[in-house]
Amino acid sequence: MVKICCIGAGYVGGPTMAVIALKCPSIEVAVVDISVPRINAWNSDQLPIYEPGLEDVVKQCRGKNLFFSTDVEKHVSEADIIFVSVNTPTKTRGLGAGKAADLTYWESAARMIADVSKSNKIVVEKSTVPVKTAEAIEKILTHNSKGIHFQILSNPEFLAEGTAIQDLLKPDRVLIGGRETPGGRKAIQALKDVYAQWVPEDRIIATNLWSAELSKLAANAFLAQRISSVNAMSALCEATGADVSQVSHAVGKDSRIGPKFLNASVGFGGSCFQKDILNLIYICECNGLPEVANYWKQVIKVNDYQKNRFVNRVVSSMFNTVSGKKIAALGFAFKKDTGDTRETPAIDVCKGLLGDGARVSIYDPQVSEDQIQRDLSMNKFDWDHPLHLQPMSPTAVKQVSVVWDAYVATKDAHGICILTEWDEFKTLDYQRIYDNMRKPAFVFDGRNIVNVKKLREIGFIVYSIGKPLDPWLKDMPAMA
Ligand code: UDX
Ligand code: ADP
Repeated sequence: MVKICCIGAGYVGGPTMAVIALKCPSIEVAVVDISVPRINAWNSDQLPIYEPGLEDVVKQCRGKNLFFSTDVEKHVSEADIIFVSVNTPTKTRGLGAGKAADLTYWESAARMIADVSKSNKIVVEKSTVPVKTAEAIEKILTHNSKGIHFQILSNPEFLAEGTAIQDLLKPDRVLIGGRETPGGRKAIQALKDVYAQWVPEDRIIATNLWSAELSKLAANAFLAQRISSVNAMSALCEATGADVSQVSHAVGKDSRIGPKFLNASVGFGGSCFQKDILNLIYICECNGLPEVANYWKQVIKVNDYQKNRFVNRVVSSMFNTVSGKKIAALGFAFKKDTGDTRETPAIDVCKGLLGDGARVSIYDPQVSEDQIQRDLSMNKFDWDHPLHLQPMSPTAVKQVSVVWDAYVATKDAHGICILTEWDEFKTLDYQRIYDNMRKPAFVFDGRNIVNVKKLREIGFIVYSIGKPLDPWLKDMPAMA
């Protein structure tokens, strides 16, 4: 029986291994992690991450051919194929600070693999890493190998949160990079055989190691660039009276461009986009390509500009101050159908409002108060370290309350900011909300989900990203 072990039971490792276990009943899959609470949660009824369809898959396989354990060394030593899916934070100190990936966790995982292995192994990079990481890991493994052979593969994961299970069951492609040697080709074939149990062969692409690593960074950079492009257009639409949804629709009808991923928003978030682009920028700079680095930097700058612009709209519309005013934030996760808050634009928006003296009342159906307080008090990039290395009880940010109901969040508020596109925010009783708010009552829709006409009829002053401006806002332009 083939044995797979995955180091790192996070957003990537957990769902990916669950689907491999589901589709390959003859393979034994162990997911290991140093975090005891995380593994306990994977073994309980309350999984550590919210992902539609995940619970179902886990329940079908757990205890049969899917196991979650903290006994990292045992499962690593027994495995034939080891996936590594550990944290890769952005460095905050030293060489490459603010851009380069910190490979501390990767390196310690690699050293541990070398230490405990007694048979040949295939080691698969699953978490996104900078190009040439495989080479570094290969060196650690071979220099400590005691005669054991390791083959390194890069198998980047393209799943998006919120649709992870569907993405894993029907991937657009599976990418496997490996050495162009007989041993490398054999390892690629072994991993291909796993995916071939449910993915059509023509969707499994084999490349060299560097191409696979770079393709992941490139794909995320292209996707983020689309959002920054449409967000840049949204600012122009507001200035000129065009409607960004109409522009996106018209542009997306061109089959060369396509309709997906063209929704203007308060900004992109998530654990990957910014981090991967920063990596790309760093690699370009290290390779003497400042023009290419600057090109990609602009994608992040426009994203930051969009978040600032949103805060400025809120403040300028409300007589240039939100000091002492209650603002309701609806949604905190970086997108709907996930409880993940990593790099969510809500952090920057809430910090901006708090900076101007607002009292912020936050409601998100999947994010806990503890997580929100952590996010608002943590330093940039600190989120990307294992849980046990993060502050246990962050100092609560005053002026923030976290509630479990949109109606409570909006009661007596002066304004509402919609920061995540949760479906339930489309069908709230906005008349009831209006009746319980201070007047004039404002809605700032950072995800373009509300019916603007209907809300204006109720009496709200409404701002929607990239849409023709409310007459009120025209008189109070945001100084970006
Ligand atoms: C992304 C990639 O899509 C995935 O392939 C990769 O494996 C990991 O990074 P993820 O970050 O989970 O996935 O979610 P994604 O759906 O890409 O959304 C990222 C951010 O962009 C979210 O904040 C989302 O709200 C925002 N977004 C997305 C927009 O603002 N507009 C859009 O049109 C699409
Ligand atoms: P991703 O979104 O890429 O899955 P996460 O941060 O959700 O990232 O998951 C990474 C996981 O890796 C964390 O649960 C962390 O505890 C775990 N981890 C980090 N280093 C090690 C290690 N050396 N051994 C085992 N698990 C590790």
